[in-house]
Amino acid sequence: MAATSFNGERFNRKVMYHDREYQDYSLRHETYLAPVDLEEETRLRDQHEILKMVYRDWDNSLHPNFIEDPESILDCGFGSGNWAYDLAEYDPNCTVMGVDICPLMAPPDQLDNMDLQIANLNDRMDFAEPETFDLIHSRFVASGISATRWPNYLRDMYRLLRKGGWVQVTEWDLNFRSEVGDTDALQALQEWSRLYMQSLSLTTRPQGKKSARVTQDCETWLRMAGFASVTTDIRDVATCPWPSDTHQRNIGEANLSNMKDLIRSLALYPVTQRQLRSIEEFQALVDNACAELGNIQAEPYIRLYILFP
Ligand SMILES: C[S@@+](CC[C@H](N)C(=O)[O-])C[C@H]1O[C@@H](n2cnc3c(N)ncnc32)[C@H](O)[C@@H]1O
Repeated sequence: MAATSFNGERFNRKVMYHDREYQDYSLRHETYLAPVDLEEETRLRDQHEILKMVYRDWDNSLHPNFIEDPESILDCGFGSGNWAYDLAEYDPNCTVMGVDICPLMAPPDQLDNMDLQIANLNDRMDFAEPETFDLIHSRFVASGISATRWPNYLRDMYRLLRKGGWVQVTEWDLNFRSEVGDTDALQALQEWSRLYMQSLSLTTRPQGKKSARVTQDCETWLRMAGFASVTTDIRDVATCPWPSDTHQRNIGEANLSNMKDLIRSLALYPVTQRQLRSIEEFQALVDNACAELGNIQAEPYIRLYILFP
């Protein structure tokens, strides 16, 4: 699919499901099953600010310092556009193209050096010429990329990258951990992860199936795509303010509400619509899981992966 402008009526249509707004197109095609409403837009903005805290060791908190002065950048699945906007603002001399299947959370005001368009990342990325970009960024799109598409998604990036360019792939590993090894205190979270991952494969449409193993398999896929060496940067991010280090504690504090909202929004549709749980059972499980996210004694955390070839 070539990129299209934001005016396409079929991409702007919304549909309600248990008080949340979804993109009608994405649900119909089983492309992406998370809400795209104001609540999610706010969560994505807050999550973006948390990530800037996590990566404060990078000069601009957006990409590492070894990626020097990229001039042409692609953001895959821009969502509410926070990363693309911040980068375009940070460096007015670079151009930032963003693509997303859904225009509904896009920022109303864009900068002159931004170009946001609609495209489906599950299709061959024909919206740009080969060797166009110095940096391609892909963050938290695992729930929208078909399981079988990943190797070709990364091959497409390889084709669109200029020689010496960089790819930056960021995803959560949605298995929650306890720093003190108290897994009994994370039982509802573990049940949530199991159900969510099971729900990703419960479809008869091949393109609807999503991978629950992106953080584990991405390095191999990147090598298969042609990238010779791959660096994986893993950060453990607290889900409540338990770390003794003040900066990490502040991150944990901010991440608590983000993670509470994430586990509710990400799994609501696939788990209940695919009938793994009734809506009441799901809400009860998420309530318990939210309490576990905030259990200071268990020192819960989640892993954030960034891969750079
Ligand atoms: C969880 S949001 C992340 C947004 C942004 N990258 C960030 O880090 O804040 C995922 C975004 O990817 C988009 N997306 C998911 N699957 C997609 C696909 N197959 N093609 C294009 N966009 C997709 C969704 O519409 C959504 O805006």
